[in-house]
Amino acid sequence: MKHLEDKITQATTLELLEKVRIELFGKKGAIASEFAKLKDVPGPEKKAFAEGLNKNKTKLQKFYDEKYEILKKEEIEKILQSEAIDVSLYGNLESKGALHPVMATMDKIIDYFVALNFAIEDGPKIEDDFHNFEALNLPKNHPARDMQDTFFCGDGAVLRTHTSPVQIRTMLKQKPPIRMIAPGAVFRKDYDITHTPMFHQVEGLVVDDKGEVSFANLKSIMSDFLHYMFGEVEIRFRPSFFPFTEPSAEVDISCIFCEAKGCRICSHTGWLEVLGCGIVDSNVFEAVEYKNMSGYAFGLGVERFAMLLHKIPDLRMLFEGDRRLLEQFR
Ligand code: PHE
Repeated sequence: MKHLEDKITQATTLELLEKVRIELFGKKGAIASEFAKLKDVPGPEKKAFAEGLNKNKTKLQKFYDEKYEILKKEEIEKILQSEAIDVSLYGNLESKGALHPVMATMDKIIDYFVALNFAIEDGPKIEDDFHNFEALNLPKNHPARDMQDTFFCGDGAVLRTHTSPVQIRTMLKQKPPIRMIAPGAVFRKDYDITHTPMFHQVEGLVVDDKGEVSFANLKSIMSDFLHYMFGEVEIRFRPSFFPFTEPSAEVDISCIFCEAKGCRICSHTGWLEVLGCGIVDSNVFEAVEYKNMSGYAFGLGVERFAMLLHKIPDLRMLFEGDRRLLEQFR
């Protein structure tokens, strides 16, 4: 009996204890062989012998059960220790993106004009010659077509080189008065630190037969808009040329990088060109069959605004999809 208890005591793992269990309690185990002796015990002693065996068996079983519980606990403890995790450790934090600065700038521009009751219009990115050129007073073989490095897509279709075709589409589907902006992507064959083959413009068009649609009106809206975008800057209107406006102007702001002292970014002029605008050319009204109307239009590049607002040195950075850039705009 004692030596059987010792076996149990010596088992140091559940695995070893299981071997001992079979040795003791199994079909051919120590207990079974003790019970086998019962048949040789003479009749009158059988009962006492059997009682003794049962008592020992029960005792041994209890001893075994206790040992089992102890080892089980130890084993669980071991597993818990080996699988322990340090909940105070940092996980792999996913870096978050942000609204792209071009879209954020676009939203800011749109907000301004929506507040002034401009409607938002849209048009296709694959345009035809009529909407992208012809109706905008850019007849075939007109030298001004060279200003726009066009992607041709066959069958006379082009990737729109500016948002101005949306002016035409809106005037064709709507009666005046018109007060609209058209934000969207445009395409030109161009690639350097200030040009990418796809970029975004916001176009604006106001048409009415009332006197308030004048160059003075255009000038005051553009000035107010540029102050809203860039704060306290000087604004200058420079005579320019666009086939669809006459007269036309390009608008400059005083350089926000060098406070107009002259730097590399403003080519030492102290001025940064930010948009084009003008009074709608009568040929454009003719193309859409508008009579006795006056109008003004403007167009600007959103990426250029975003670059200036955030002092981004290379336009191409806006299209590389590098999250390190985006993370700075959270
Ligand atoms: N469409 C011109 C461009 O892409 C911008 C512009 C729009 C100029 C409307 C005047 C009026 O350069």
